Amino acid sequence: EMLEKGGYDHFMLKEIYEQSRSIRDCLRGRIYPEKGKVQLGGIKEYADKLKNVDRIIIVACGTSWHAGLVGEYLIEEYARVSVEVEYASEFRYRNPIISERDIVIAISQSGETADTMAALELAKEKGATIFGICNVVGASIPRITHAGVYTHAGPEIGVASTKAFTAQVTVLTLIGFYIAQLRGTLTKSKLIAYLTELDQIPELVEQTLKCNEEVKKIAAAFKDASNCLFLGRGSSFPVALEGALKLKEISYIHAEGYPAAEMKHGPIALIDAELPVVFIATKNSSYEKVISNIQEVKARGGRVLAIVTEGDTEVRNMADYSIEIPATDDAFVPLLATIPLQLLSYHIAVMRNCNVDQPRNLAKSVTVE
Ligand code: G6P
Repeated sequence: EMLEKGGYDHFMLKEIYEQSRSIRDCLRGRIYPEKGKVQLGGIKEYADKLKNVDRIIIVACGTSWHAGLVGEYLIEEYARVSVEVEYASEFRYRNPIISERDIVIAISQSGETADTMAALELAKEKGATIFGICNVVGASIPRITHAGVYTHAGPEIGVASTKAFTAQVTVLTLIGFYIAQLRGTLTKSKLIAYLTELDQIPELVEQTLKCNEEVKKIAAAFKDASNCLFLGRGSSFPVALEGALKLKEISYIHAEGYPAAEMKHGPIALIDAELPVVFIATKNSSYEKVISNIQEVKARGGRVLAIVTEGDTEVRNMADYSIEIPATDDAFVPLLATIPLQLLSYHIAVMRNCNVDQPRNLAKSVTVE
């Protein structure tokens, strides 16, 4: 088993470290930055459908649902198509409104999740075109879909999903740019610029992973917390949700993710010197807004950990702890900002003597409803 873990103490840590490679594998043969071109062989037959689609519905569970939420931001922003993201288990029992004009995309690492599968079957019955974004090749979901894009993250053993999540987000990014290319919502020069940056992401992931030792120190300061809040805005909101889920899953610390601006409608009541508040506060369009949210927490004596863009001193001075990630375009921040959060839950869980790879009561794939 030690051999399978490639020298790492846990599969989860190994899989966190594999992300530069897994994102590279996911991009391979799919982007041509110098031509400003995305090529997705698995769905190209449906190019016309994608060009004219009015609405995309994403169905998923757990971490895959969080990837879907990131996808919603990306696809709406770049391809200008309306996207709805649904919990598969809610969607399937709600007599949802679906027509032949819709494209329904299931996101599932295992390709076996019962609720996701059932939601997809329902959409198919109602005449929608159904796609899958799966990791396990030949699993049940890819077998029933009309088309799909594999994430190619390689086998994921740790129950808490890490590299599968970033690969799902990568595929959704590709789909966003692919539809943008089909619909002409981004100019050629914009596409060239985005794809050139996307091509650099595996390298930036590698750089981001260097924060490990620093994250470990912060984990030691946070390990005895009984609650934790994760806040972000825009596409960093689903990153906050995913950060909270990771912490809950493997360290059994109660954690919640919230859109930073919603904090004042509830979670702010919880803030005291005990409660760690993790902000995704990178330099992007909502930077100034997030800063005022951080000030609100500090004014109430909260303990703040901020994920910041390299070289940012403003937030660094304000926060109790901070972790830098390399600067990148807004579109790719989720891929980098997720990494320190994965490492944070990992180290906290190890320090609390939790079973990191097989947390209690959780299964890697939930094939019952
Ligand atoms: C379980 C796993 C999660 C996963 C979810 C959805 O709860 O523990 O890590 O995100 O199922 O699984 P899927 O295979 O459909 O992505």
